[in-house]
Amino acid sequence: MERVLGLAAGTLGLLILLKLIRRLRRQQNLQDKVVVITGASSGLGKECARVFHAAGARLILCGRDQKRLQEVSDELRSNSNGKTQTHTPCTVTFDLSNTSLVSSAAEEILRCHGHVDVLINNAGISYRGHILDTHISIQRNVMETNYFGPVALTQAILPSMVERRKGHIAVISSVQGKISIPYRSAYSASKHATQAYFDCLRAEVDRFGLEVSVISPGYIRTNLSVNAVTGDGARYGVMDKTTATGSDPAEVANTVLKAVCQKQKDVTLAGMLPTAAIYLRTLCPELFFRLMASRALKEQRPKQE
Ligand SMILES: NC(=O)c1ccc[n+]([C@@H]2O[C@H](COP(=O)([O-])OP(=O)(O)OC[C@H]3O[C@@H](n4cnc5c(N)ncnc54)[C@H](OP(=O)(O)O)[C@@H]3O)[C@@H](O)[C@H]2O)c1
Repeated sequence: MERVLGLAAGTLGLLILLKLIRRLRRQQNLQDKVVVITGASSGLGKECARVFHAAGARLILCGRDQKRLQEVSDELRSNSNGKTQTHTPCTVTFDLSNTSLVSSAAEEILRCHGHVDVLINNAGISYRGHILDTHISIQRNVMETNYFGPVALTQAILPSMVERRKGHIAVISSVQGKISIPYRSAYSASKHATQAYFDCLRAEVDRFGLEVSVISPGYIRTNLSVNAVTGDGARYGVMDKTTATGSDPAEVANTVLKAVCQKQKDVTLAGMLPTAAIYLRTLCPELFFRLMASRALKEQRPKQE
């Protein structure tokens, strides 16, 4: 009995030690590192700002609304825990959907600390609508925000990373970057394009020692569906049940932090059903297409009758 108890205590001690070492390593990894987060004003981006700030990173928070970014920055400063040496974040305001503005924003980002260690392409917008009711300008607009914006920012920051032979680019894609579901065409297309671009990038910059992580979460409890755009450009304005019951954004932010610290190349953060659907799409596409067609019928939107 004594030996069993001793063994259990030893194992527990070892586990605690491993956890401490892991936490220390994360902090060492990120202490003083320059981390850019787009879409830092809300949702997952804001939670990423919290965890990277707590790990001692020098943050550059990006978004379209200076006031909201400043509020996030003020909140981080007031919540500093004292255990880690933290830094006051910088803020850079720009609209990712206007790619002509992105290179000057990148210059401003690079002026903050002279370089970027980690770029987290998080900002994004969702979409709800039937393809028949969706103007091409909406398809283009979602693509500008979710695909061309992050691509333009990445390409503007990339040369400085290549020159230093150092840097990590992470992008928040989605399970919908791996499978397409009905009434999400613009969003799903933009996330599939994101997955493809960053997979190519990873291969091309490997020889310079740069890292690329694509993180594909399932539903997260944020305002993404409320802020989604519809086929005629109006705001969707509804908190979908799937989003409301999604993962805690703080947990997803910790997964992003882990992906960066452990240099993970491709992370899918999904439950059993979406994971099975991803496999089904590859292994048995006919069945997957049939299931999606019946889902489309079930979720039929009013205008298409
Ligand atoms: N929530 C989910 O269920 C879910 C699931 C999988 C993946 N994701 C992905 O997670 C990422 C973060 O989304 P979220 O869930 O946190 O949604 P969110 O709360 O709506 O946040 C979106 C962020 O993107 C920024 N943004 C939107 N359009 C922009 C533009 N044109 N230029 C610059 N910034 C812009 C917004 O900032 P401002 O409005 O202040 O500019 C906001 O900070 C997105 O890439 C999304 O696709 C979300």
